[in-house]
Order: sequence, then C-alpha cells, then structure tokens
Amino acid sequence: MKNIKNKLFSKEAVTIGPKSGYDNYIMAIESSCDETACAIVKNGREVIANVVASQIKTHAQFGGVIPEIAAREHLDSINIVIDEAFKQAKENVNINPEDITAFAGTVGPGLVGCLLVGLNAAKTLALTYDKPFIGVNHLNAHLCGNYLDTDLKPPFMALLVSGGHTQIIDVKSYSEQTIIGETVDDAVGEAYDKVARLIGLPYPGGPKLDKLAQEGNPQAFKLPEARVDGYNFSFSGLKTAVLRLVKSFDGQEIPVKDICASFQETVSSTLLHKLKKALESSGYKQVVIAGGVAANSEIRKKIFNLEKEGYKVFAPPMKYCTDNAAMVASCAYFNTNTFDDVNTEVFSRVK
Ligand code: KG4
Ligand code: ZN
Repeated sequence: MKNIKNKLFSKEAVTIGPKSGYDNYIMAIESSCDETACAIVKNGREVIANVVASQIKTHAQFGGVIPEIAAREHLDSINIVIDEAFKQAKENVNINPEDITAFAGTVGPGLVGCLLVGLNAAKTLALTYDKPFIGVNHLNAHLCGNYLDTDLKPPFMALLVSGGHTQIIDVKSYSEQTIIGETVDDAVGEAYDKVARLIGLPYPGGPKLDKLAQEGNPQAFKLPEARVDGYNFSFSGLKTAVLRLVKSFDGQEIPVKDICASFQETVSSTLLHKLKKALESSGYKQVVIAGGVAANSEIRKKIFNLEKEGYKVFAPPMKYCTDNAAMVASCAYFNTNTFDDVNTEVFSRVK
C-alpha cells in the first residue's frame, strides 16, 4: 500500500483534449446519486457506448433516494455497466479496452458512498490499463452534456437546473466558467419533488408533475414569483404558497392539474426572466440548458422560444439531461489540463 499511496496514474497520453492532435477515447463512470452509468466518448462529442442502470424503482417505494441502499445497488451494477460499455464500443467501432485514452470518474458533488463506488472503479481501470485518470465535477459534466452530438463552442450562458442545484453560469471558454446566479434556498428539482409529494404524486415527482401540468390551466392560480437580487433565485416561498393553496381546498377535491400547471408556469417564467437578463448583459448569442430539470417540457419550450429573438438554444436530448456518464467523459475531455492521482477524493457538496 505504501508504494501506491502517492502513485500518479500513467501520463502516457501527455495531452488530452481538443489540442491533443489525436483521437481521444475517454471511458467515464457516473455514480453520484441513483444511476450507475458508464460511457465511452470519442473526442468529447461522439458517443460510442452509453449504459445507464437506473435505481428509480428501488427508491420509489421509499419516496426518495436512500443513500445506503443506493450505494449497495451501485456495487451490484458497476461491473455490469462497465462490461456492457466495453461490449458496445467493440461492436460499434471496434475499440478495445487497451485503446481507451484515459478513464474518468465523477468525484462530486453527490452521495459519498455512491461516489466512492464509481470513483474506485474508474481508478482501478486506469491502474489496470496503465492510463491516466481524470476526476470530474458532476455539475460541470451536466453542462458538457450539450457538447455531445453537437458543434457547440463557448462562449455561452448556461442554466443548470437539477435536483440539487439551480445556477446561471457564464461559460467563457471550455475551462473558464463563472457562476453568476444561484438559488438561495431550494433547487428547482427539489421544489418540483416537494410540491409533487404534497399533492400526493409518487417519487420521482418532477417528471410526473410536468406531465399533469401539460393538461392543466397555467393561469388557474396566481402564485408568487420571488424577488431576489441579481441573477439569484428562491423557490421555498413558492413551495409554501402551493402548500397553502392545497390546504385551502379543505376536504374538497383538489384541482391537481391546474395547480401543477400554475406552479410550472411560475417556475419556468422565473427561470426565463433571470436567464434572459443574464444573456442581455453578456451579449452572448448562445444559450444552454442542462441538468435533470432541463427535461421539463415548459422550461424547454420557453427557452427554445428565445430562438425567435435570434439566440441559438442548446438543450441535451432527454437521455443526456438526467444523470449519465457520456457527459462525464465529455467533461474530462474539454475541461482538463491536469490528470489526477490515486489520492483523489470524493466530496459531497459544492467546494
Ligand atoms: O440532474 P439530475 O438527474 O440529478 C441531480 O440532481 O443531479 O436531476 C434530477 C431532478 C429531480 O429533482 C427530478 O424530479 C427532476 O430532475 N426532473 C424534472 C423533470 N425530469 C426530471 N423536474 C421537472 N420536470 C421534469 N420533466
Ligand atoms: Zn445530476
């Protein structure tokens, strides 16, 4: 153990990324929450293998993700998703494990027990095949989901909306990003899941609320849009307003679809207003949405409407919105100038 403690992984590939001058095949592993995923991506954009094992059914019975159970499920699935990714790469483009340029793994933010499973698998692969290892930030990875199968290049303004985060990010270059706004309380996905629970929808509530909202009247109830400075957001007041509204029916039938539609209308308008303000002040003509909540129908619709005002809008297809490893591989390719070593640790919250 003594010898391995400070070992650097192989630096055989001295440069990785757009300036490397040769084809990069990066295998990445993602296990920060309730999806065990492995993917191989060529040059940060071309997905040649993509495998996701979801634990949604397991956690549904508990109404949310149970960290210890999630970590155990990652242990059960990790070797299966890795084998399947290697198999797809062989079948699709005849790439063997020895042809992988570098191995990457999500280091955080996320559930520590879950992250450890994926990160240790990625490090082990790097040691086994004597290749470099790259640790990837999960939030940066969500942004990079937009590089998959597209020709998007910075600069652009990004809206990152997930279960844990709500941020407006000024992406100046592949490696230079500044968070210019974020939520002061609940994340958008969290607000969706909490509101879904209080109107009696099963976990995961966000997508179900979205579906019901499409059948309701968005103008049925006037809900408050929080006033927060700059590009920041607040969603806890809105959640409380929905709670009050639900209670006001006092035993009568609750108009679930109209409540969902009104909530969705308020959230999507708030996000659009701040994002537009940030876009106008930056002068950028490109805008990107990322994160699990970027799968939301109304948020997508409102942001894609910006195309009528001359902006180019990018949003990953559904499979790259929610947690996956292809976005992690892309991030390792575009965001790194350094390799990580055996001591690389996981972290639970944004550093
Ligand atoms: O990015 P993600 O897969 O996991 C992290 O939080 O990192 O995002 C999951 C979140 C959950 O809160 C889920 O309810 C929400 O994204 N979500 C949605 C939709 N699809 C997923 N929220 C609203 N509408 C959707 N269609
Ligand atoms: Zn995520």
